[in-house]
Amino acid sequence: MGKKIMMLSGSPRKNGNTNTVVGWFAEGAKEAGAAVEVVDVARLKSRNNGCIACMGCQKSEKYECAVDDEIKPILARMPEKDIVVFATPVYFFGPSAQLKLVMDRMYSLIKFDPAKGQYVHELGHLKWGLICTDGGDINPGLSLVEQVFKTSVGFIGSELESLLIPFASMYNDDIKQNAELRERAMAFGRKLAG
Ligand SMILES: Cc1cc2nc3c(=O)[nH]c(=O)nc-3n(C[C@H](O)[C@H](O)[C@H](O)COP(=O)(O)O)c2cc1C
Repeated sequence: MGKKIMMLSGSPRKNGNTNTVVGWFAEGAKEAGAAVEVVDVARLKSRNNGCIACMGCQKSEKYECAVDDEIKPILARMPEKDIVVFATPVYFFGPSAQLKLVMDRMYSLIKFDPAKGQYVHELGHLKWGLICTDGGDINPGLSLVEQVFKTSVGFIGSELESLLIPFASMYNDDIKQNAELRERAMAFGRKLAG
């Protein structure tokens, strides 16, 4: 059976660099038989400006966010997938705030078990990917963002593969004509979905 992929795309630019690459990745993954859900996280309506650390999720038995808004059902669907891919432009050496807002609320999918003295979750079966574009070179922006996601995924005992795209300008559409990058992004999609 084909893999189920969720892509969390955190660029506010619908037809920008990041979403162009997201489209190519999805094309490749679909070729490999995957079902791809692309979530435009920059357009989700959230009740608060990020995780408010209400700890409602930690008090509940369920792996779900206690805040009822458009982000909650996205989080709830994540454990049903096989692969989750984050996609973001670099904004001041980090991921976009729009993606970080969703990422922080993934705290609701992880619980601290005092008896075991460790965190428990239902995400162990997932493969993780990152697509990240920036206007400069690999260092420092793309490397820093990759580090954030690798460390976060490592925290739950998993690994993450990334496609880092330097020199992606917002002042022209050059990326859309980049056939070599298109092929690399599609190949990355086929690989993760395979
Ligand atoms: C608010 C903002 C902050 C940015 N910060 C960085 C940065 O720290 N380093 C960098 O190389 N590019 C930076 N850029 C450029 C974008 O990361 C880059 O052009 C990216 O490909 C834009 O993606 P998009 O077309 O999906 O929006 C920034 C752009 C914006 C709008």
